[in-house]
Amino acid sequence: MKPTYYITTPIYYVNDVPHIGHAYTTLACDVIARFKRLDEYEVFFLTGTDEHGQKVETAAKNNGVNPKEFVDKVSENFKNLLNCMNFSNDSFIRTTEEKHIKSCQKIWDKLINNGNIYLDKYSGWYAVRDEAFFSESEIVDGKAPTGAPVEWVEEPSYFFNLSKWEQKLLQFYESNKDFISPKTRRNEIISFVKSGLKDLSISRTSFSWGVKVPNDKNHIMYVWLDALTNYLSACEYSNEQDDKVFKKFWPADIHMVGKDIIRFHAVYWPAFLMAADLPLPKKVYAHGWWTNEGNKISKSLGNVIDPFELVNKYGIDQIRYFLLREVPFGNDGDFSNSQLINRINSDLANSYGNLFQRVVSIIFKNCKEIIPLKPNKFDQEDLTLINSIKNNLDDYRNLIDEQKFDQYLKNIWIVISNANKYIDEQAPWALKKNNFERMEVVLFTLVETIRQISILLQPFVPHTAEKILDHIKIPHDQRKLKSVDFILNGNIEISLPTPLFPRI
Ligand code: MSP
Repeated sequence: MKPTYYITTPIYYVNDVPHIGHAYTTLACDVIARFKRLDEYEVFFLTGTDEHGQKVETAAKNNGVNPKEFVDKVSENFKNLLNCMNFSNDSFIRTTEEKHIKSCQKIWDKLINNGNIYLDKYSGWYAVRDEAFFSESEIVDGKAPTGAPVEWVEEPSYFFNLSKWEQKLLQFYESNKDFISPKTRRNEIISFVKSGLKDLSISRTSFSWGVKVPNDKNHIMYVWLDALTNYLSACEYSNEQDDKVFKKFWPADIHMVGKDIIRFHAVYWPAFLMAADLPLPKKVYAHGWWTNEGNKISKSLGNVIDPFELVNKYGIDQIRYFLLREVPFGNDGDFSNSQLINRINSDLANSYGNLFQRVVSIIFKNCKEIIPLKPNKFDQEDLTLINSIKNNLDDYRNLIDEQKFDQYLKNIWIVISNANKYIDEQAPWALKKNNFERMEVVLFTLVETIRQISILLQPFVPHTAEKILDHIKIPHDQRKLKSVDFILNGNIEISLPTPLFPRI
C-alpha cells in the first residue's frame, strides 16, 4: 500500500478577487503535492474558499447582492486560478457546502459534550478585516496590531476554554519540534502561548452569515472555528456511514499558511482538536509575504498583483519558477518585474532551455536525428554528470520536506550549468570528424542528464518538463522519482524543438 500524504492550503476569503499572495500559498502546496506523487505517495491536496463571516457578508452587501449569490460568484474566480496556474488539487472545499456545515456542527457537539464550551457574554474589540478579537492591551492607536480598524462588540457568546490548553500546547510543541516551522515562527508562537491564553469567543449573534450553532438559533459559529474545520470536512469527518477516507488521511501532514494566520493554525486549531479528542496535524508551515517593488501590497494603494495577468504576459512555468526561486521560502520577498525578466532570461531561457535546444540540435544535425544508443563505456567526466542527480535523490526529498524550494532549484541549476560547461569542454561538434564514437557518448550523457533534470523539475515547471520528456520519448510510467535510477536506452528518433522559453 502506498504511504499517504495530506496537504492543505488556507481556504481563501471570497470578499475579493485572487491575488499573488493566494497563488503563492497554493503554488507551494502544488509543488509538494506533485513531488510526493512522483515519489509514489497517495496524495490528498486540498484547497478551497472561506465563505462565511462578517467580512464576506459586508462585501456582498457592498455589491448589492445576497451573500449566497455573492460567494457563488467569487468562489468561481478562485477555481479559475487553479487552471490558470496549473494547480493539481484533488479537492476544493467551500464552507457553504452541506458536508462542511455538518462537520462544524459535529465538532461543536464534541467540544460541548467534552465540557469545553460555555455560554457567557463577550465585550471587547473585533477587527472585521482580520476576523479576530483583540484585547484592550493589544490595541495600538485605536487599531488592531495588524493595522486593521476595530469595532466594540458586546453580545452573548459561547466561549471555548482555550486557557485550559496552555500547558498541553506547550508540551505538544516541545515534543514535536517541527510542528511549527520555520523556527522563528515556532519561537514567536511559544512566547505568545507562554504569555497566557484567554478563553476564546466562538459564536456571534449580531449577524447571521455563518454556520448555525446546534441547539441555539441565536448564535452562529465564529468564522475561524468554521474555517479551520474545513480540513476535517474535506476528508469526510461528517460522513457517519463511512470513515475510510477520514481514517486514511487525517491527521494532515502539513497545513501551509501565510505568516499572518499562524496563530489560528498553531494555537487555536490544535487546542480545538485536543479538546475534541482528535489527532493533531503534523506540521504547520508559515511562509512570508510579498511586497510589490518595495511597497506593501494593498487594494487601497492600487498595487495588487494579478496572477492571471502575470501568467498571460510571461507564461505559467515562468511565474511558478520565479516565485519559488527568487525568495527563500519562509522569508518575505519583493516582487520586481526586472528581477522576474532576469530570471526568465538567464535561468530559464539561457540555461535550461538552451541546454535542451543545443543538445537536440546537435543530435539532429550529426546523428541522423537519433539519440545515440546507450554506450558500453563512459569516461569519468560523463559519470560525474550522470550521477550528480541520481546519487543525491534523498537530498532532494529532504529539501521538499523542509520546504526549501529555492535550494532545490539552486542544486538543479548547478547541474544544468555543469552540463552546459561539459558541452563546451567536450565540443561534440569537433569530435564528429575524428572520434564519432566519443561524440555519441557525450551526446548520450547529455540527454540522460536532461532526462533526470526534467524528471526532478516536473513539480515546478510541469508543462516544460512534460514537453522535454515527451520530446525525448520517455514513457509516462518512467517519469517517477525512482525512474531517475534507470538509464536511458537511447536509439530514439527526435525532431527539432521550438524554443521552450522565449527570451523577453
Ligand atoms: N480565510 C483565511 C484563512 C482560513 S484557513 C482555515 C484567510 N484568507 S485570505 O484569503 O485572507 O488569505 C489567504 C492566504 O493568502 C494567507 O495564507 C495569506 O498569508 C496569503 N497572502 C495574502 N497576501 C499575501 C502576500 N502579499 N504575500 C504572500 N501571501 C499573502 O486568511
